[in-house]
Amino acid sequence: SQSKLQLVDKHIGVFPDFPKKGILFRDICPLLKDPAALTASIDLFEEHVKKNYPQVEFIVGLDARGFLFGPLLAQRLGIGFILVRKKGKLPGSTVSVAYELEYGTAEVEIQEDAVAPGQKVLLIDDLLATGGTLFAACELMRKQQAEVLGCMVVIELKELNGKDRLKPHSVFSLVRY
Ligand code: PRP
Ligand code: HPA
Repeated sequence: SQSKLQLVDKHIGVFPDFPKKGILFRDICPLLKDPAALTASIDLFEEHVKKNYPQVEFIVGLDARGFLFGPLLAQRLGIGFILVRKKGKLPGSTVSVAYELEYGTAEVEIQEDAVAPGQKVLLIDDLLATGGTLFAACELMRKQQAEVLGCMVVIELKELNGKDRLKPHSVFSLVRY
């Protein structure tokens, strides 16, 4: 689907020196603003999942921008959506995993009963940079003994080697810079 990929690619913004000097920030806001481009992105994810992971039981989305794509994809597939949130946002019993940021650490969290042992999940976020966030989410799944079939992102930033960080999990990306 070359034209769908082009449509997605055309709707990724780029901002030099945001949020600080030296960072070339990729922005998904134009993609969300354009219904045809957003549909194309979900079409591409849907095609990938139906072809490679027909057994998937849940889409797991990462706070915050994974929440923009995950529920749309889950609805297409007729399956449920699970939230991985930044720590302190979810009620009830939770499980958390800490991860490294450029400065300091953060924690991601799920509800303890969000997934059952053996359930097959695919993780989704808007962007893969160092892979720290998706790695922590994979750790959450491992703690709950869910089976991670793979990770999916709209954008992969190649030079940060997030793909290596996530091995042996596979990463599917729509566009790579
Ligand atoms: C961004 C992005 C990914 C993560 C990627 O989120 O949406 O979730 O960073 O970086 P990594 O691969 O190096 O972990 P951010 O932490 O800025 O939080 P937000 O979604 O709340 O804006
Ligand atoms: N865009 C959006 N989020 C990000 C980026 C980026 O370029 N790098 C790390 N998180």
